[in-house]
Amino acid sequence: MDVRVFPDYAALSQQAAHHIAHLIRQKPNAVLCLASGDTPIGTFQQLNAMAQAGELDLNHCLFVGLDEWVGFGPADVGSCAYYLYKDLFTPARIRPEQIAYFDAKADDLQAECHRIDRIIADAGGLDFLLVGIGVNGHIALNEPGTSFTLRCHVSQLAESTISVGQKYFTQATPLTQGITLGLRHLTDAREVMLMASGPRKATIMQAALHGPVTEQVPASIIQTHPNARVWLDEAAAKPAA
Ligand code: PGA
Repeated sequence: MDVRVFPDYAALSQQAAHHIAHLIRQKPNAVLCLASGDTPIGTFQQLNAMAQAGELDLNHCLFVGLDEWVGFGPADVGSCAYYLYKDLFTPARIRPEQIAYFDAKADDLQAECHRIDRIIADAGGLDFLLVGIGVNGHIALNEPGTSFTLRCHVSQLAESTISVGQKYFTQATPLTQGITLGLRHLTDAREVMLMASGPRKATIMQAALHGPVTEQVPASIIQTHPNARVWLDEAAAKPAA
């Protein structure tokens, strides 16, 4: 595992963006799955700047959505897709045909899961998966107790995910289920990066990195990946006092 601790969020974001840019330059048609959420925003800003300056060509990449709240779509403020469009797809001018995202408003969510599984398989698998971590150890919407063997599935959200998730919405919003890539997608991805920033993530990062590999801490699966990066800022890397 490539574990790196950067002095602050800005340095973490800059290095992550450089790493992703390098990967895309090596493989311009890379299949990427990049998490939404607060953690990658700085990385996306750097990537957008590179794309806008003509230093990075994102035109041949395929972007697969990581997860979504069931019942929410890209037009809904607070949805995962809403932020990914706002923070990356729109400023980086990613074309619709380059994006494969769950329709979490679909009547048949199982069919949506199969559709995204199929897209990933047909594209030859994920070249790169960027994930954050929830304070309960979740990866995407794979909550504690989720089997490591699942691909796309519908999940029951944990209480902490429902309460922490309110930060993405402008008003109190009932959340119950998610539709998400599974941890099998993480194991199968050619490269994985877990990013964490800030003191709120310090305790769970210790468990994910140094505790047992267990489905009770979904992020601990990263210890088993042969090509994994865990990049943190100092605040997230500090063991709790
Ligand atoms: P955050 O979300 O980047 O907004 O902290 C991480 C997560 O819950 O996976």
